[in-house]
Amino acid sequence: MASGITLAVLCVVAVVMLLPSAPPLDARFPAAPTAADLAALRQAYSGAPPSWPRPRLLAGAQFTEMAPLALHASPAGKDRDLARLGAELFEDPLLSASGHFSCQSCHNRRLGWGDALPTPFGHGRAKGKRNAQSLFTVGYKTPYFWDGRSVTLEEQALAPLTDHREMANDDVAGLLARVNAVDRYRTASAAVTGHEDIRLDTITAALAAFQRTLERPTRFDRYLTGDRRALNDTEIWGLHLFRTKAGCANCHSGPTLSDGRFHNLGLSFFNRTLEDLGRYGVTGAAQDAGRFLTPSLRHVAETGPYMHNGIFPALAGLVRFYEGGGGRVRIDRPVAPERLALRQAAASKSPQLQPFALTPAERAALVAYLNAL
Ligand code: HEC
Ligand code: HEC
Repeated sequence: MASGITLAVLCVVAVVMLLPSAPPLDARFPAAPTAADLAALRQAYSGAPPSWPRPRLLAGAQFTEMAPLALHASPAGKDRDLARLGAELFEDPLLSASGHFSCQSCHNRRLGWGDALPTPFGHGRAKGKRNAQSLFTVGYKTPYFWDGRSVTLEEQALAPLTDHREMANDDVAGLLARVNAVDRYRTASAAVTGHEDIRLDTITAALAAFQRTLERPTRFDRYLTGDRRALNDTEIWGLHLFRTKAGCANCHSGPTLSDGRFHNLGLSFFNRTLEDLGRYGVTGAAQDAGRFLTPSLRHVAETGPYMHNGIFPALAGLVRFYEGGGGRVRIDRPVAPERLALRQAAASKSPQLQPFALTPAERAALVAYLNAL
């Protein structure tokens, strides 16, 4: 009897020991897979994300497992009326001092809610310094802007309305007078707020309510919710590379594919014409020099050019940039002594960023996957 139990225990131990300690395929997936390899990979990614091969993460990474984005219900009643008012205001150049710019000038539905330019032209054709962000996911994130300087969408909307390079309303009274002169807006405002007088907070609330309705399900959401035909074998290979060899999941994870943190990818152009120190401009803390908020990658196929300064017109070039371990801050040029600490920080890239090498086929697979997001 006792020896029977011992034997059973030994068997269990043996079985446990035979089970691979790491899930299959992680790290060891071949660079030139056969059809059988790809079929095995598809199998490994066929269950729910927690059962997938584990992502390869560097120290300090904050990974949240991939998951479909749970969309908010469409607004109803007064919320719907508010979003409708926001949709009209969003398209109306009346909101700009010159009467030439609407939010839509830089955030166009047909251009992935961006403007397809590296950086936009605004008031007086003043060149903006940063890339106009896509708005698909704004109802599902915080903070806002590349440097995270606004915490709510309502607060965010004040910035373009008053920014000199954007809609250039020096005095909000002028803006309110123009909006209040439109009967249609006064009627809509009365229906939502109970008073015809349109105040600034009605405008920002309406714009925010509208922008919260822009998100749509993606092909990757369909895959994640169980439609296993939504991705082909190449795209699943790209998904695997994203989580392993290419290291993207170190910063791009969870339902929006962003860790919501600020990272330095070496794109600050320190001490050069295009210098932009990102988060440092908000906090004033030297270690933030060159850090930018990890953007969502949802709908990324539609939202180029890429990065805060729009320097990458296409995803393949962007992947090559990551392969090289990101950008470089030049430390051979003279710099004022009081800026040495800033340069030091700007030159220190995120510890979650490491160089790697992909074959052309792997790069194409990773780009194919990005195009499904
Ligand atoms: C002249 C072009 C331009 C106009 C007009 C404009 N924007 Fe933007 N928008 C930008 C740029 C550029 C950024 C990124 C700026 C930054 O990060 O510093 C941005 C960022 C945003 C963001 C942040 C998105 C995120 O993910 O953090 C929102 C939301 C937004 N704009 C909404 C609006 C609204 C609403 C209006 C109209 C009231 C508007 N924009 C008008 C160019 C513009
Ligand atoms: C260390 C964190 C980190 C890692 C690792 C990382 N990213 Fe990023 N990603 C960011 C940050 C931060 C930005 C914005 C940087 C900027 O504009 O200066 C960004 C921007 C992007 C953009 C531009 C999106 C847009 O709307 O302009 C894409 C696309 C992207 N990353 C894809 C990837 C892919 C693919 C990988 C893997 C090869 C990857 N990222 C690895 C943090 C990271």
